[in-house]
Amino acid sequence: MPSQEINGFSMHYREKGTGEAVVLIHGFPLSSQIFESQIEALSSSYRVIAPDLRGFGQSTNTDRFSINSLADDVHKLLSRLKVLPCVVGGLSMGGYIAEAFYKKYPNDIKKLILLNTKAEGDSSAAKDGRNKMIALCREFGSAGVAKEMLPKMLSPRTIERKNDVVDKLLKLMEAQPALTVEHALEALRDRDDQTALLGKISVPTLIISGDGDQITGPLVAEPMQKAIAGSKLVVIPSAGHLSTMENPAAVNDALLEFLKGGE
Ligand code: MLT
Repeated sequence: MPSQEINGFSMHYREKGTGEAVVLIHGFPLSSQIFESQIEALSSSYRVIAPDLRGFGQSTNTDRFSINSLADDVHKLLSRLKVLPCVVGGLSMGGYIAEAFYKKYPNDIKKLILLNTKAEGDSSAAKDGRNKMIALCREFGSAGVAKEMLPKMLSPRTIERKNDVVDKLLKLMEAQPALTVEHALEALRDRDDQTALLGKISVPTLIISGDGDQITGPLVAEPMQKAIAGSKLVVIPSAGHLSTMENPAAVNDALLEFLKGGE
């Protein structure tokens, strides 16, 4: 995996293909591995770049971070690679980062892709949940967090029928360093509410949700679609929160149609 020295650490990223750059930002507590299928499918027509965020995957680092600073890391990488402005997409926490990126650098995004994500910040109950998860992480490490999160990350159908996806996701979550998981939980808890940003988004935007997404399902995605003028919503069948792994073919089709079709 190539890397660039940026903002005091070595940011590793997957890269494949040539042409217009499409950047995919992973969720929590994951890595660029969640986009393996999308990188393959899109790279015949696009230059796909999927970073491992600070502390995740191969981007080893122990510093604290915020959603805004992760957006700065991605921006620095893309500016180093000289691909700005470009298409920026993110799944869940990656979507929060894409929104923060848009807010800070609106002229550097050509099109926006918001996968299995939302704009609202954490409610006070959600913040309490993050603090409990931080305590769980300190006691049981990433494996404790992975075990707790797994039933919500995938649709019940995936859990019942796709053992390979369940195993892969569990291993990926368990592999993230406990300190990074803790820092990310703080960053998620303290992130900005971006609801007011939605009405200001003026680039073509694709929103993806899963019909079995228990965290950011259609009930979350539909109001977001209404708030972003001209945006398009695709609800992926047989998919939960990890749509890119649960139904990669349908996600790839939606991405390719959006990227080729303009709006
Ligand atoms: C993610 O998948 O990135 C997380 O579910 C985001 C969150 O917990 O808010």
